[in-house]
Amino acid sequence: MLGNRLAACAEFVKGKKACDVGTDHGYLAAELLMSGKCSFAIAADINEKPLQSARHTLHKHGLDERSETVLSDGVESIGLDDVTDIIIAGMGGELIAKILSQKSLDGINLVLQPMTKASYLRRFLAENGFELLEEKAVSEGGRLYTVMNAVYSGEKREISELEALTGKLSPSEENARRMLCALSEKLKKEASALSASGNLEQAEERRLLSEQISKLAAGENS
Ligand SMILES: C[S@@+](CC[C@H](N)C(=O)[O-])C[C@H]1O[C@@H](n2cnc3c(N)ncnc32)[C@H](O)[C@@H]1O
Repeated sequence: MLGNRLAACAEFVKGKKACDVGTDHGYLAAELLMSGKCSFAIAADINEKPLQSARHTLHKHGLDERSETVLSDGVESIGLDDVTDIIIAGMGGELIAKILSQKSLDGINLVLQPMTKASYLRRFLAENGFELLEEKAVSEGGRLYTVMNAVYSGEKREISELEALTGKLSPSEENARRMLCALSEKLKKEASALSASGNLEQAEERRLLSEQISKLAAGENS
């Protein structure tokens, strides 16, 4: 039922009561219940229309009793007392970071799938006391996506641009390697454009990052 992107999100779910923020169609919440991975799911969305769609999905599969749909901006209106996992997928990295700032998420397993600005999100996590535990790159419909597993640890730290760009993507995995190669190429092109417009310092920074990421993708440490 789920595509590779949401299936990877489901794999990172660890507890029995998950909350899918920005649920839209409700497929992930339904699958978590049908697979037996979770015993209860909250499907939340900021808009009524997607929430209706989620209600329809959950009802169609006979999951009304084991689920709740909540109209909420992020986690603002959700009671998180016994929630074990929060999934925020299919949104931009900045919006995901904003939602993570709404209330304390201490002790909750977080599954984050940014469509854009993954490096912004990784930096936000590090600087705001969240630990990025694991990251998996998946391919779907000809596009690569990253899925992150994080938890609040309270330990805040600064991270380098290289770490913000690459996070926990492991070159031993094919999709992660492809993602790193694509990133390296993108930075190389940016370096050329910057160089052509006379921004030599910035061009050199991008060129160096491109080189470091290319080496990382090749399994070299430096
Ligand atoms: C592109 S869909 C992603 C659906 C699903 N999570 C997925 O990954 O396939 C984004 C959903 O997030 C919802 N959304 C956007 N901003 C939100 C917010 N601040 N709080 C909750 N939901 C939000 C939208 O209404 C939409 O249904």
